[in-house]
Amino acid sequence: MEIGKKLFTTRKIQSKVKELAQRISSDYEGKEIFAVGVLKGAAIFFADLIRAITVPLTFDFIIASSYKKMETTGYVNIYGDLREDITGKHVLLVEDIIDTGLTLKFLREKLIERNPQSLRTCVFLDKKERRIVDVPIDYTGFEIPDKYVVGYGLDCESKFRNLPYIAFLEP
Ligand code: IMP
Ligand code: MG
Repeated sequence: MEIGKKLFTTRKIQSKVKELAQRISSDYEGKEIFAVGVLKGAAIFFADLIRAITVPLTFDFIIASSYKKMETTGYVNIYGDLREDITGKHVLLVEDIIDTGLTLKFLREKLIERNPQSLRTCVFLDKKERRIVDVPIDYTGFEIPDKYVVGYGLDCESKFRNLPYIAFLEP
């Protein structure tokens, strides 16, 4: 597999991150956010996003995966859980990409059981046409076509996460 055509440049990514952070900051005015990043994919987006958010914020990570190579396995594994209690907090769950929706649906349900005061979801990329379960998404960066993408945290067999742009993958 090789890196194909560029989908989003670093510049385009940065301006979208800024726009999302501004919307989030104004929606949470007067509140404190507890941001939860889903590793590993969301790590890069998460780091950029939280630094652009202007309301008080603390964060933690959850490690989850439903993918083997380039296909979803259909069920989600949690490899590492939050270390902090989210009861009564305004939780913002941050993911790199939503595809079938299985990962986010599973994580949302897992977090809701712990009684946060509120729970919203933020995804950088949305492959809408691939959705098989319904999940409410509060903040979306870009909608993209049903094609595999890498870079800006997204991988193919652990590679390409460090690309500063997002590109299609070509066989
Ligand atoms: P879902 O559970 O099917 O919604 O899949 C979400 C997860 O699949 C994301 O957190 C990504 O890790 C992974 N994923 C889905 N599509 C892509 C892609 O195009 N490139 C890289 N990872 C992807
Ligand atoms: Mg992921």
